[in-house]
Amino acid sequence: MSDDRQTVFSGLQPTGNIHIGNYLGALVNWVKLQDEYDTIYCVVDLHAITVGYDPAEYQKERLEAAKMLMACGIDPNRSLFYFQSQVPQHAELSWILGTMTPTGVLNRMTQYKEKAEAAGANLGLYSYPVLMAADILLYRANLVPVGDDQRQHLEMTRDLAERFNNRFGEVFPIPDALIPEKSARVMSLADPTSKMSKSHANEKSRVLLLDSPDVIRKKIKSAVTDSEPTVRYDWNAKPGISNLLEIMSGCTGRSIDDLAAEYETAGYGAFKEAVAESVANKLAPVRSAYQSLDDAEVARLMQKGALDARTRAEGFQQEIRKVTGLSAP
Ligand code: TYM
Repeated sequence: MSDDRQTVFSGLQPTGNIHIGNYLGALVNWVKLQDEYDTIYCVVDLHAITVGYDPAEYQKERLEAAKMLMACGIDPNRSLFYFQSQVPQHAELSWILGTMTPTGVLNRMTQYKEKAEAAGANLGLYSYPVLMAADILLYRANLVPVGDDQRQHLEMTRDLAERFNNRFGEVFPIPDALIPEKSARVMSLADPTSKMSKSHANEKSRVLLLDSPDVIRKKIKSAVTDSEPTVRYDWNAKPGISNLLEIMSGCTGRSIDDLAAEYETAGYGAFKEAVAESVANKLAPVRSAYQSLDDAEVARLMQKGALDARTRAEGFQQEIRKVTGLSAP
């Protein structure tokens, strides 16, 4: 698949609960980029085991995540698509990059600090951003479509690529993040000052991609807003409404200004109805695509993806072993 197109890489953790934030912040771009780029997408199952999990449950969740991504439009015929754990070159490159990562840099990672506080620290969680850098650099990716929360990890990846190139020669392109202008940070419906997350205990805090229109309506209706009834885009004074405006803009493609003008005096009830409808419409094709996918076929496609990915990754890793003095004697 090597051609003169630029390479795109991104990953998603298979921790269930894929939500509208993942979708608008990252997955919409993943799907779009398939038209013009050499795209590589990965269910990053090694990343997700840095917090506690149940192995039997996880086996199902991993497949479920792959199926959801296919339902969103990731096409294994156009993208290289596989489970990270099935391609050992990710872990190999991660080790090498780890030897070049100052611990001071890892100590500053905000996601590490948050997760370590919530779930307890471990070495995997600490070196998580190094594995992420390895994912991206393994394929010499140029572009990485992600939401706003991955900005710091991407910066670290760029620094590591430069550090490696300075020491061993120009091996890695310096990858750019592709972060959408709007809905790059979809906030929790229950608390619009914190990010919508897969793991928050309150299920009403997020809309899931497979939620029925009825459930979507209930969740949006209960979204926390404020008591001044004008629909206006103002993150300081009206974070709940601003979040809903961003979600609706992401789902309809209409500008925030346009939506704010239309719903300014409509009242929160009518506005929330319209938001819910836009979300339900946007997710309807995902739901129906999901229903037509077969688990065994998804598993087969993921196995094939892993085979192709291993071949491609091995070619690249041979170059790394050569420049770092680690090739076969
Ligand atoms: P993960 O699995 O948490 O999220 C997948 C993608 O969804 C984006 N995202 C959001 N976007 C907008 N609003 C939100 N509330 C929101 N929550 C999540 C994330 O930014 C991400 O793009 N570390 C990554 C996985 C990863 C990766 C990689 C990504 C591992 N290796 C290499 C890119 C390249 C993560 O935890 O994503």
